[in-house]
Amino acid sequence: MRSDKKIIIAIDGHSSCGKGTLAKNIARSLGYMFIDSGAMYRAVTLYLIREQLTLDDVRNDPSILQDIQIDFRLNGDGTFYNTYLNDENVETLIRTMEVSKRVSEVSTVKEIRDFLVDQQRELGKERGIVMDGRDIGTVVFPDAELKIFMTAEPEVRAKRRYLELTEKGLGADYDDILANIRERDKMDSTREYSPLHQANDAIILNNTDMTREEQARLALTWAKGVIMAQ
Ligand code: DC
Repeated sequence: MRSDKKIIIAIDGHSSCGKGTLAKNIARSLGYMFIDSGAMYRAVTLYLIREQLTLDDVRNDPSILQDIQIDFRLNGDGTFYNTYLNDENVETLIRTMEVSKRVSEVSTVKEIRDFLVDQQRELGKERGIVMDGRDIGTVVFPDAELKIFMTAEPEVRAKRRYLELTEKGLGADYDDILANIRERDKMDSTREYSPLHQANDAIILNNTDMTREEQARLALTWAKGVIMAQ
């Protein structure tokens, strides 16, 4: 008999390896909510840049974070969640290289992580959610029923991100992107608080040689297997 119990699916992994695309595909197929936790770190980064606040300003007075309101709203045809920062759609603005260059440093700050992890847990309290990020299976939802750890070669990831940015009409330089990916891999994996690492119970998905469709099919098979076993 098919179980109706909703689960949490945590997708972690390196920068630009297609976590968001996979998470969206699974969420759509299962009728689950999709949350891009990286977008939350990016929105905080954008806020700090605009307000000219330093990371020490946040460490000295974490209450300034209370002025930041982040939420996700479905677009008109219900196919895509846009990220909102204080009621403004910042989905495109948070993907610029300016934000990409600063976000890994911003995400090392314990006060910012605590602030966002609380919100992420709140979003998942009804389950029925697919969330992608770096610490979802290890810190945010250690009890997630399905954990996937994604990776791919840095050059493959840089090429994908380059195409994504140019398709959106945003300026992009391949070498700059590759350097940024390598730098973020290093920072994400070596930071003191919640570094990126594979949860013991995560399934590894190396998609260097896989199409989006192949990944989605495979992950959906895993998800359905877990749901049926509930
Ligand atoms: O997934 P992304 O590249 O948009 O994430 C942007 C940055 O945010 C990334 O460099 C690491 C950080 N991040 C994090 O520390 N923890 C998460 N759960 C998600 C993202």
